Amino acid sequence: MNEKLQSIKEEAIRQIKESDAPEKLNDVRVKYLGKKGELTAVLKSMKDVAKEDRPKVGQMVNEVRAEIETALEETKKQMEEKILEEKLKEEVIDVTLPAKKNLVGHRHPNTIALEEVERIFIGMGYEVVEGPEVEYDLYNFEKLNIPEGHPAKDEQDTFYITKDIVLRTQTSPVQARVMEQGKLPIRMIAPGRVFRSDEVDATHSPSFHQIEGLVIDKNITFADLKGTLEEFAKELFGPETKTKFRPHHFPFTEPSAEVDVSCFKCGGKGCRFCKGSGWIEILGCGMVHPHVLEMCGIDPNEYTGFAFGVGLERIALLKYEIDDMRLLYENDIRFLKQF
Ligand code: DAH
Repeated sequence: MNEKLQSIKEEAIRQIKESDAPEKLNDVRVKYLGKKGELTAVLKSMKDVAKEDRPKVGQMVNEVRAEIETALEETKKQMEEKILEEKLKEEVIDVTLPAKKNLVGHRHPNTIALEEVERIFIGMGYEVVEGPEVEYDLYNFEKLNIPEGHPAKDEQDTFYITKDIVLRTQTSPVQARVMEQGKLPIRMIAPGRVFRSDEVDATHSPSFHQIEGLVIDKNITFADLKGTLEEFAKELFGPETKTKFRPHHFPFTEPSAEVDVSCFKCGGKGCRFCKGSGWIEILGCGMVHPHVLEMCGIDPNEYTGFAFGVGLERIALLKYEIDDMRLLYENDIRFLKQF
């Protein structure tokens, strides 16, 4: 009997040691200590044991039972500790790991260029104003000396909301809106989005940006216009920059000019950047047409003024030497991050 009990014990302990999960331990418990378990079977067979031996055998069975139970308990405890340890290891937060960075974007070259232009003009005492992108034909054309049937209307074909309402083709209508308010003198710039029915290519887009400038006061002359824009060009492109005023025509200014700056890449010698000419065109300008002043309620005998219009993309492309305007509209962060 003793041998049988010993072999049951050894077998049970071996199986306990081999168990790799709490469920398996439970199987072992049932197999040996359960109602139909092997040790229980020994107890049940007590009736076959001689009466005088029964207490001894009973004691032996109890001892084996206790040993198996202890082994089960201890192994279970060890298993649970191991499981907990692994779980803690898995779920641990490593505070030394670098934090996930929040990807913030990058300022667009247009924005950087605009802020630079605003800085320059604010420094000269200008105000920054805004006008609507959806504009009356009246302001976009009519009050700028571009009446029905004027050829400039063809050049600046745009998107019509109704016959009288358009997506503005230029920021110049803001001039008319500000003049109409009647607060004089005026020193303002008006940046904003404009629209034209142009095909997309390296230098054109149906939607782009301009910055309008307007100064109205007593005794404003072309000399003021020249001095202001010369100063602007020097601030924007560097102190060596020269400016050239070429006669031009705009319906709302008289006289009008286009302004070229000496190529800041080659200094005027001629290079790929300025297409060999040494000059780069940057804006249109002129003295506000007396008829425009009149239409906006200002007496041209008392007040004069000048205006100018700059393409914002053109400045960004030049300043940052970007050779394709389309890059400005793709908003690829790899591109934007370079400026
Ligand atoms: N609005 C003109 C254009 O889009 C640019 C311009 C030229 C604006 C002369 C002006 C100006 O204010 O005086 O082509």
